[in-house]
Amino acid sequence: MLLRPVHDSAADTAAVRAIDAAAFDRTLEGREAARADVRTRRLAGADQAGCWFAEEDGQALGVALSLRREGLWGLALLAVRPEAQGKGVGRTLLDHALTHAHGCLRGMIVASADPRAARRYHGAGFRLHPTMALTGRVDRAGLPGTGGIAIHLGDATHFDLLDSVDRRCRGAAHGEDHLALLRTSDELLVADTLAGSGYCYRLGGRVMLLAATSRRVASALLTQTLARIPDAETADVRTVTAEQDWAVDVAMAAGLTPETRGWLALRGMKPPTHYLPSGAYL
Ligand SMILES: CC(C)(COP(=O)(O)OP(=O)(O)OC[C@H]1O[C@@H](n2cnc3c(N)ncnc32)[C@H](O)[C@@H]1OP(=O)(O)O)[C@@H](O)C(=O)NCCC(=O)NCCS
Repeated sequence: MLLRPVHDSAADTAAVRAIDAAAFDRTLEGREAARADVRTRRLAGADQAGCWFAEEDGQALGVALSLRREGLWGLALLAVRPEAQGKGVGRTLLDHALTHAHGCLRGMIVASADPRAARRYHGAGFRLHPTMALTGRVDRAGLPGTGGIAIHLGDATHFDLLDSVDRRCRGAAHGEDHLALLRTSDELLVADTLAGSGYCYRLGGRVMLLAATSRRVASALLTQTLARIPDAETADVRTVTAEQDWAVDVAMAAGLTPETRGWLALRGMKPPTHYLPSGAYL
């Protein structure tokens, strides 16, 4: 087995997509596929030392994409083709991606429910926090108000504010990842008030990333985001740990259905309280 870096190219982006489809038994389409491709190219370009293919006889068996931002390392994708699973490929890829974590005190992974992934992350020193997903059609009548918190649409002029909120929530700014998030979301909502600041990206029914400096602002942002989901879309609020009970309160009031799904794996940090991470940019 050989390891080689993932390049910021159309061919490698297609190869990542093919491994993802085989490993997760899913076909990403439309905006979801475009979003995954933007993530691959962004990380392959900015974090080449963290992005690796495992290959045998010229065929890619698996891939790891990871990033490093201001002392925080994050794993954006770990996937191995089904016929190659359970033979140590995932472990080798993760070990290699973790060399990119050199000098980082903190680590974050939005992990699937796959027990092999959970074993490996725990073995690499990550604590496993069980997560919930809350999904369904939004019952607008049940939604609470925003408690007087003013919320407005955001754009690239807000990135400095967003980075400040990131540093407060997870100890590291997203930097230029915000550009990728903005390009691949339907909208960015921003709150900047005396009661606190925060933001939320939404794509269709999915809450992609939410960060806030207070519970009040986090609740108001999630409320407003759910209220703006088009009727035809299914709302999807995921990677909610027990610490984010404010998100459970809002999502339950909106009529969404809770289930347990996967883990938030963390090293050197506790679950950020007023925060719902992005699987791709954490
Ligand atoms: C999760 C995944 C990347 C792991 O890669 P892999 O090559 O299959 O895993 P490895 O052979 O390196 O084994 C990883 C661990 O799982 C254990 N394992 C292997 N087969 C297992 C099984 N059937 N059940 C439980 N554990 C198993 C191994 O012993 C190893 O544990 P250890 O690190 O404590 O020794 C891969 O299985 C996969 O792509 N799964 C589907 C996609 C997915 O869920 N990705 C994770 C996203 S967070």
